[in-house]
Amino acid sequence: MEIQQVCILGAGTLGSRIGFQAALSGFEVKIYDVHEASFQLSKKMIDKIAEGLVSSKIYSTEAIQLALARLSYTLDDEEAVASADIISESVTEDLTIKQKVWERMGQIAPEKTIFTTNTSYLLPSSLASFTGRPARFCAFHFHDVFYSRIVDIMPHPGTDTALISVLEEFGRRLNQVPVLVKKENHGYIFNVMLLSFLGAAGKLLVNEVASIEDIDKSWMVNFHVPMGPFAILDSIGLDTAWHVTHQLPDANSKAFAALLKTYIDAGKLGQKSGEGFYTYKP
Ligand SMILES: NC(=O)c1ccc[n+]([C@@H]2O[C@H](COP(=O)([O-])OP(=O)(O)OC[C@H]3O[C@@H](n4cnc5c(N)ncnc54)[C@H](O)[C@@H]3O)[C@@H](O)[C@H]2O)c1
Repeated sequence: MEIQQVCILGAGTLGSRIGFQAALSGFEVKIYDVHEASFQLSKKMIDKIAEGLVSSKIYSTEAIQLALARLSYTLDDEEAVASADIISESVTEDLTIKQKVWERMGQIAPEKTIFTTNTSYLLPSSLASFTGRPARFCAFHFHDVFYSRIVDIMPHPGTDTALISVLEEFGRRLNQVPVLVKKENHGYIFNVMLLSFLGAAGKLLVNEVASIEDIDKSWMVNFHVPMGPFAILDSIGLDTAWHVTHQLPDANSKAFAALLKTYIDAGKLGQKSGEGFYTYKP
């Protein structure tokens, strides 16, 4: 199961990051999306990450150029998976969309292809049967890829256990630290803790206990970290955060999801759109 060719489904926040890191790690990468506009945003995002990597001397300009030459975009899903050893799926966090995508991949991907989903909160068993080859399917979940480098490996009960070591090795080659989630769990390991934290911040805001800035400040100053919960939400993307939050059953999550929706309806999606809880330079 040697991995050389990587197919990324979804050219959004995470698909772009995973794709760029894979190219930096020497893999040939094809990124597929249904919206051509996503490619422009993806290129901008990658340029910005590349700038940071060069200025902090993590990669040279030459290494970035070589990586960019290994990465291509396509609107043609058959072309995207034609020679893929592995698929990393980062399409919108919506069960129906993901099920349709995996049904299609099961029809068009080569036999050899390993199937992975980067879902934040869904369980792989809700997608596995749609592939038609559930033993080849596993959740392989990244965080921010460059700054936060944990990758969760979470099999479903029907995953071929031989995939685990392949994904551990692939994760390390992508400069990540793999962790194994021994049984299916919504939110893996870190996201379970993160959701409680972000939910608590949302509750403080919705109940008008404090301002966005002061909630963030309280966390940042006490923990000596550069981002508080609302800046983290901006980096995740408020639409992605909403997809998770609005499905949670408790009243506080529902109220916070309703607040997130007002931002989304105003086109404020966070860093990727230039404005969310905060504004960002283009
Ligand atoms: N944003 C994060 O911080 C983060 C972190 C870890 C995991 N994730 C997960 O990664 C996945 C993607 O999240 P994101 O934040 O990158 O979302 P995003 O909205 O930034 O990007 C999603 C992309 O998927 C594309 N898309 C939609 N339907 C498609 C289809 N049928 N085929 C191909 N492409 C399609 C969209 O055009 C868009 O470009 C979600 O499952 C999310 O839970 C996100």
